[in-house]
Amino acid sequence: MVEPEGFVDRAVAEIREEVGDASAVIALSGGVDSSVAAALAYEAIGDRLTPVYVDTGLMREGETEGVRETFAYMDSLRIVDAEDRFLDALSGVTDPEAKRRAVGEGFIREFEREARESEADYLVQGTIYPDRIESEGGIKSHHNVGGLPERIDFEGIVEPVRELYKDEVREVARELDLEALVAERMPFPGPGLAVRVVGEVTAEKLHVARGATAVVEDELEAYDPWQALAAVVGKATGVKGDNRVHGWVVAVRSVESRDGMTARAQEIDWETLQRIQSRITGSLPSVSRVVYDVTHKPPATIEYE
Ligand code: XMP
Repeated sequence: MVEPEGFVDRAVAEIREEVGDASAVIALSGGVDSSVAAALAYEAIGDRLTPVYVDTGLMREGETEGVRETFAYMDSLRIVDAEDRFLDALSGVTDPEAKRRAVGEGFIREFEREARESEADYLVQGTIYPDRIESEGGIKSHHNVGGLPERIDFEGIVEPVRELYKDEVREVARELDLEALVAERMPFPGPGLAVRVVGEVTAEKLHVARGATAVVEDELEAYDPWQALAAVVGKATGVKGDNRVHGWVVAVRSVESRDGMTARAQEIDWETLQRIQSRITGSLPSVSRVVYDVTHKPPATIEYE
């Protein structure tokens, strides 16, 4: 285990040495790794670091506000409101892989533009030790910011937390007073809520997936799941007053897993499930039905797309 205090001093000195008088850019995802890398780099080079956060509109409730608050002390922070561009790029796209590509490419485009504008010489990345092991071992090609280094000519890449494990990154976050990041949130997929909306992504479906996910994360925290989520899976008939209505079907899912490769659906007590149902239908009137997904992985995946 690294000793956080000593680590911060060493990392800051190392970044200063590597970057010198030049400038750098980092893509913030809202996650702890890129946030800690950004905080270290900011301490090292101040406003010569441009932290860029792309709001894709596919984030969980409160995520963008959280980033804005956590990094309010960085004058050079750029928050890019790209929601409309992502919705445009996703319009009419129903194939799950095509959706993932649209999100990935959109992200690269947004970040590239900001990186060029900042005229940064260096790219800072929040790569941690397990990311490198996975990439080198060929298990999956991990990229925090897919393919960027190849497309922009940076003088170098700086990875201040490359030797750390996740729990060590959290220790360092604490040392840096990034308390909000230490509270462990459930993992969230790169393509965001786009994979929690079956079929075409629309602003309305995202609104439902976002609100329902917030309820589910809140209610199921006590079960300590690997992941708990809500997805918009289709439409079904319901009744409102005297009328039959066609509303959204929200699927609730909560799984245990060691590594995400396989997973078991969790057994949730009836009362909790009913509370989830009533909070979701109460706060989102366009939802007519809430179902609980009992499928393990395999045969299902954890996310819906
Ligand atoms: P699936 O749905 O394939 O997900 O069973 C396994 C785990 O990986 C997460 N996931 C992703 N994470 N980019 C990510 O960073 C992605 O494209 C992506 N797709 C799935 C998922 O949330 C689960 O924890």
